[in-house]
Formats: sequence, C-alpha cells, structure tokens
Amino acid sequence: MAEIPVEKLNEKQARAELARIAALMAKADAAYHQNDDPIMDDAQYDALKARNLAIEARFPGLIRPDSPSKKVGAPVAPGFAKIRHAVPMLSLGNAFSDEEVREFDARVRKFLSIEGGLDYTAEPKIDGLSLSIRYENGGLISAATRGDGEVGEDVTSNAMHIKGIPHRLENAPEILEVRGEVYMTHMDFQALNARQIAAKEKPFANPRNAAAGSLRQLDASITARRPLGFFAYAWGALSAPLAKSQIGAIQRLQTLGFATNPLTALCDSPAALLEHYRKIEALRAELGYDIDGVVYKVNDLALQARLGMRSTTPRWAIAHKFPAETAWTRLEAIDIQVGRTGALSPVARLHPVTVGGVVVSNATLHNEDYIKGLDSKGQPIREGRDIRVGDWVEVYRAGDVIPKIRDVDLSKRRNETPYSFPTQCPVCGADAIREPGEAISRCTGGFSCAAQRLEKLKHFVSRQAFDIDGLGAKQIESFVQDGWVREPADIFTLQARYGSGGRQLKNREGWGERSAQNLLAAIEARRTIPLNRLIFALGIRHVGESSAMVLARNYQSWGNFRNAMQAAQPHAGEAWQELNAIDGVGEVMAASVVDFFHEARTREMVDRLASMLRIKDVSPPQNTGSPVAGKTVVFTGTLTKISRAEAKARAEALGVRVSGSVSKKTDILVAGEKAGSKLKKAESLGVEVLSEDEWLALTAQKG
Ligand code: IVH
Repeated sequence: MAEIPVEKLNEKQARAELARIAALMAKADAAYHQNDDPIMDDAQYDALKARNLAIEARFPGLIRPDSPSKKVGAPVAPGFAKIRHAVPMLSLGNAFSDEEVREFDARVRKFLSIEGGLDYTAEPKIDGLSLSIRYENGGLISAATRGDGEVGEDVTSNAMHIKGIPHRLENAPEILEVRGEVYMTHMDFQALNARQIAAKEKPFANPRNAAAGSLRQLDASITARRPLGFFAYAWGALSAPLAKSQIGAIQRLQTLGFATNPLTALCDSPAALLEHYRKIEALRAELGYDIDGVVYKVNDLALQARLGMRSTTPRWAIAHKFPAETAWTRLEAIDIQVGRTGALSPVARLHPVTVGGVVVSNATLHNEDYIKGLDSKGQPIREGRDIRVGDWVEVYRAGDVIPKIRDVDLSKRRNETPYSFPTQCPVCGADAIREPGEAISRCTGGFSCAAQRLEKLKHFVSRQAFDIDGLGAKQIESFVQDGWVREPADIFTLQARYGSGGRQLKNREGWGERSAQNLLAAIEARRTIPLNRLIFALGIRHVGESSAMVLARNYQSWGNFRNAMQAAQPHAGEAWQELNAIDGVGEVMAASVVDFFHEARTREMVDRLASMLRIKDVSPPQNTGSPVAGKTVVFTGTLTKISRAEAKARAEALGVRVSGSVSKKTDILVAGEKAGSKLKKAESLGVEVLSEDEWLALTAQKG
C-alpha cells in the first residue's frame, strides 16, 4: 500500500500511522539490538523516523508516550550477545627452551617451599580457540568464547553442533563449566577450503582461522555444516570438585563424555616433561591437527590453588612452545612508527612471504641497535651482521606475536647502504632523543606530535581503557583527522557539538541516525568510569593495567590521586615516599607518573577530562570474612613456613595491601627471622608487630 504524504493525512489517519510506525520501529530495534538480525536497513529506519517526526510536527496533540522520537538508542553492541565468565578464562605464560622449563619447575617449588620433586601433567597445546561451556543440572546452558578473558561471546547454538561436546551429562556436578579448545583437522580444513573456492568464497588462511570463522557464525546452521572438534582440558565454575588432581579431573571429564587429548601424560620431573615434549614434537606432523607446543600443569589441585594466578596467567601452568617456523624474503623498506609514548619503532616492510601458514609482509625491527646487529647490552647478535634495506632476511613468528627478523644473508648483499636511524620524528619533526642507557629513541613532541596524539587517543578508547562501543581506532582516526577530537575531553563534548545543529555526526560518511545515536549513548554510558580504568586510559608511560589498579587501590579516589601526584616532587618529600612505598610501584614508574602530572599542559588536559566524568572510587579488595582486609601490611625478615611470594599472594587475596616499606600508614609488620631495620622502625612508630605464626593464625581460612 502506498504511503499517504504527511501533508495529506487527516487526524484519524495520522493517529493510525503514528501507532504503526511506533510498533514497526520497536520491532526493528529489538531485531537489531537483541536478535542481531535486522529487519530493515539504516535508510529505511531513518525514513520511518523522519516520517514520524513530520507527522508529530503537524499533529503535536497526537504524540504517543512511546513515540520513537522520545527514545535514545540502546547502547548494545551489534553481533553476538555477551557472556560474563563466572571464573575468568586465563591465558598461559610461555617457555621457549628446556632451561625455561626447568626454571618454571624451580619457581613453582620455591613458591610452595617444596624441596623434592613435583608431579605435572603434559599435554599438546591445541592451536584453536578456547571455549567455555556451562552445564547446570546436567543440561548444556551456554557456551562462550574467551573474549577478553572476562567477557566472551555467546555461541551456545553453534557449540551444540560440535563433536566432542555432549548436550547432556550424567552424574555431573550441579554446576560445571568445561573449558577446552575448538579446532579443525587438516583434512576438514582442506575440504572446507575446496568448497569455499568452488563457491567463489575466500579460503581460510589456516585451520585455526577456519575454526574461529566457523564457530563465530551468527547463523548456527553454517556452523553445523563445518566440522569442528573439541578437546576438554580445563574448567571454570564448579559446584563440586571433579577430582583431587589435574589428571583425575581430565579422566572425569572423559567419563562425562568429553573428548580429551590422548597424549596427556603424568610426569614426575622436568626431565620427564621434556621427554614427553620430544615425543609430542616427533608426532606433530602425524596428528592431523595443529598444535603449537606442550602445556605443563601442576598435577595436585590443592597446590594449584595455593599457587593461584598472576593477573592473567596461572602460576601453576606454562606453555612450552615449539620453535617458530621461518622463511626468507627481501626487506623492501624500513618505516618508522611513532607510538603512544613517542617511541620510534622501526618496522620492516617485506616482500610478502608465507610463514607457518600466514602471509607476512611486516616485521618488527625493535630499535636502532637491533638493526645494527647489537643486543641491549651492546653485544653482537647475528654475529654482528647489520640489516639494510634490500637485504634478504629470515622471518619467523613465535605464536601470535608480531613477526620478527632473525637473520640476514650477506651472500646476497650487493651495494645496499647501512641504515641510519632518524634523529628527528618523521611525523612532527621534533627532535627524537635516545637517552643514555636506553635502547629506544623518543619523539619529544608529546601531545603536539600528531602521531603521539592519535596513538594516545586510540589507547584512551581501547578495550582495557574507556572501551566505548562504536569508537575504535578507525573512528578516532577519522575524528582526529577532521579536527572533531583533539584530546580525550573532546569525546565527551561530541554530543553537544555534533549531536544537533548544522554539522551532525549522523550525516558523516559511514554514519547514520542509528549508529550516531548509539555512539553518543555509548559515550554517555562511559562518563561514569572506575578510577583504575581512567588512570590506565591516561596512557602514562610504565603504567599498565595492573599498575593502574595498584595506584587506584592505594589512592582510592581521583581527588586523592591527582592531588598527591601534583604534590609529589621527584625523589623527595612525603608524597613521593608514599608513592614509592606502594608494593608494585618502582622508582621508574613513580617518576613517570609524577613527571606526567608536573607537565602543566598535560595536567590541564587531564583536568578538562576529569571535569566531564563521574569517577568511581576504587576500594581495596574486600574480603568480609577476613579481619585483615583493607590493612596495609609489610613483610620483613625470613619466613620459614611459606615463601615470601606465597605470603604476599595470599595476603592480597584477603584484601591486604602489601607494602615494601614501613611508614605511619602501616597497620601490621610481619617479622620473620632476623628482621632488622624495618622492625626497629615499626616499633618506633608504634606499628603492630606479628610473628610469622601469629600472622598465619590470624589469616587462616576457616571452613
Ligand atoms: S590450559 C588455566 N591447556 O592456549 C589455563 N590451554 O596460550 C587455561 N590451549 O587460552 C589454559 N591447548 O586457548 C590449556 N591443553 C591446553 C591448551 C590450552 C590450547 C590454549 C587456550 C589458552 C591458550 C593460552
């Protein structure tokens, strides 16, 4: 039925039309936001919205309470629904040599204060993508990808089509999250690529990409047609333990119906681990699926629990990677990239070459010395051979990391000239300075260097920082280019400047009514930000995610933090000492933070930003059951029952702030054997002093 032009509508028709549009747009919103399955395109949606507005302008008395004109876009990310993992999905630390495996074992035994040998499991590291599957009362409830470890994508209906994942479990704990790797065999990969090519679709680069592409399909019927396998090797939330040991838990998962890897072995020493590694390495080519190393795990689950984890990796496991594959190609150019902190990074532009199934055309060259053939201590690498544009170079990839250059073939060198590293920033022209003892040259342009500004802004909106839906590196780049955004505060005035009026976000190329509204709503949603995220987002050199958390937990509010940083004089005074006393803050980081806040222009920029935000205080982790939660504790002297590292990790798990030095703010000093000056200082300040035994009794976990 043709639409009646707005100016010809009578009142009755207008009322009916407003009702129809409201219903249709509500349906479109739900389809778009909740079902990831839009029922109309942006243009149709915008036309409906405009018609609605025009009718409302003619008949203001008919505006409905649920009118689409009153709604602001719901800031829900397109694509998959998100699932928050009940227990974070960890990644693994790496070892690349036998020596590093022995060091891992030594580290574990030292942490646990164990003299004798320890049992470990060893199993192939599957090169696929990890998946967490939740069962409740035996029924499969949900399945999620790893995502950032905290929040993954909901791929439940897709996971239902994977071999090796049972839909129902008998005799399983009430709640059980099974974790493992989704992969594709070489045979299935080749067959899939043949079908892709026949259907004139792009073939996948390797089985891992094919597995990821097949699992992450909005249309689960596509996943169903792609043969995927699954090996279970870990678990998340559990209502009852699976077993007492890693190997026992894996056997239990197998009994429950999961595929587990047949090359999983129990080993009683680093030597036995290395032997199993060699065995798996020898079988690698015949397995029929990709693996990229061997994973070692402490077998005793009670010991795993004691070892716990660092921020993203467990202390009780490590991945022993296979040596990287390499390939030779020509170095066509060396470009210099300027990073967020002004670091000049040389990047090799290579004639494209396949390394381990992936086409590589860029590689890192690290720094000036690396190009010259020197390591960080000035010792020769590659027997001192330098790298020149035009050379033949050997490229390698280790895991997912950026490709690197290992060697250069001098026999192929003709009249290439040595590379001279720039002494000026190639972007802004400011001096690039290499401080004595440093490997990296840095552009001194700061925020006035376009490259640094752009990188700082990209960092600001990145996932671990402000994480604004719809505002990624690409969008920031285009806003910066057009002068819409120059500094972080500008993001929060976009609505005021471009939400209405002559120049509007929705009229920019690549934007529409809905995407513009979604972005502005997403920015609004991030006006409230936890202190630790804000500190990280500022992009202060040496302040990563975990340091930002350490600072936030210590200063707790933005006001406290900012004022303390401004008050602190480098290397002197009380504010400086307080900063340095924080466990996890070293002199280099402290100096970097203080310098950052001492630069007047930077401080003003930060203040402009802060004035637009609601910054949420961060409190030290509270453990209501523990009498020591929130206390500042210093350990000194030799502990005899547990190692210093374990004491610290345990205390932190109870919500304790562990500090390196004694001050008025110290609540408890735990004095081990042969305690010296810190004990004296604590006594003189009247700080409570406990022996190791007293401390252990106080913090013993009940129940
Ligand atoms: S254990 C708590 N075991 O490797 C430890 N991971 O580099 C959780 N992976 O994210 C991981 N095979 O996706 C473990 N046998 C195996 C594995 C394995 C492959 C993957 C996993 C993890 C990544 C870490």
